[in-house]
Amino acid sequence: MELAKRLNKLPPYLFVEINQRIAELKARGEDIISFAIGDPDLPTPPHIIEHMCQAAHDPTNHRYPETAGLPELRQAIAEWYERRFGVTLNPAKEVLPLIGSKEGIGHIALCFIEPGGLALVPDPGYPPFSMGTILAGGEPYFMPLKEKNDFLPDFEAIPGEVADRAKVMWLNYPNNPTGATAGIDFFEKAVRFAQQHDLAICHDAPYTEVAFDGYKPPSFMQAAGAKKIGVEFHSLSKTYHMTGWRIGMVAGNVDMVDALFRVKSNLDSGIPQAIQYAAVEALRGSQQHIAEHNAILQQRRDKLLKVLSEIGLKARIPKATFYIWAKIPQGYTSMDFTKKLLDEAGIAVTPGTGYGKEGEGYIRLSLTIADDRLEQGINRLLAWHRRRG
Ligand SMILES: Cc1ncc(COP(=O)(O)O)c(C=O)c1O
Repeated sequence: MELAKRLNKLPPYLFVEINQRIAELKARGEDIISFAIGDPDLPTPPHIIEHMCQAAHDPTNHRYPETAGLPELRQAIAEWYERRFGVTLNPAKEVLPLIGSKEGIGHIALCFIEPGGLALVPDPGYPPFSMGTILAGGEPYFMPLKEKNDFLPDFEAIPGEVADRAKVMWLNYPNNPTGATAGIDFFEKAVRFAQQHDLAICHDAPYTEVAFDGYKPPSFMQAAGAKKIGVEFHSLSKTYHMTGWRIGMVAGNVDMVDALFRVKSNLDSGIPQAIQYAAVEALRGSQQHIAEHNAILQQRRDKLLKVLSEIGLKARIPKATFYIWAKIPQGYTSMDFTKKLLDEAGIAVTPGTGYGKEGEGYIRLSLTIADDRLEQGINRLLAWHRRRG
């Protein structure tokens, strides 16, 4: 058997070593507290589950769904964009439901990337931006996200011939892993840059509803000209605590949405309809839990930031996302420091280099951890710090 060579181009999975170490420690009976996973710990709100259960009993929902998604769901997505961002979308042509946004993020590379083609990708960044590009036969050109630039890419630093050769640029705000946010002015700058170099923009925005201190992150689709050259990926995963149900969407430029639909209609058969009905209820029903969850996350954020500063790990206060991007002390690599926390404090975090080489010098901590475990984790970090003197 000979596997396709493209598989050799995928970089080794960086978390293998850490995951093995966690498994070994657990097998020895050690209790590991994990700040490593970006998956809401609180359950899907009950009214959403209720709708899913009702829909699951209906035999019409037991059959193959359409790749295009239920018209009712497309309509609910368009209404949500209008209500939340004041963005008007044609539900038939400018909206496409996805089997979780990750699926669409991976597949859209097939719409833009020729063998050897370039995609502009943020570093650090959500890995599927570059992995989708590589699997489509292309190459990522990494745009460093530096703290001194507020973790925004510096478009002027991208060589003109690279920008001209590239077909697509990936952006993601509120950002995983840095927790940085971007305003409409930045998105408009990105649109101008894309127009100059004939680029498509894919903006990934699953964290617009996870925000603190009264901040309301904008959508890329609010930027003037965004619909002419770009789409936005969004998701019900983080807003409605529905990571396990797998449902998201893409919205924006009609040709880009249609191109992704053409790829997907040849590869998948849509989202189970009971889950689509649950999504309709999520988008149209009560949104009260969002503020409640954000209040819980904000408290966790503040507690954890206080302790990190006490133990000498500097981090900016994130206005959105459930991630803290903390600077580690000099003299360690992200990986060494991650292993040290695991071995000496029983605390799992994500090394910054898991998101690209610019992540060196950082670790990511997620706030999706139950309050009692967070308290235990905080106590462990303080005790570990005292032990080190
Ligand atoms: C930046 C970013 N984009 C997309 C996703 C994928 O979300 P979904 O559950 O919709 O596939 C995640 C999940 O962690 C994410 O962090």
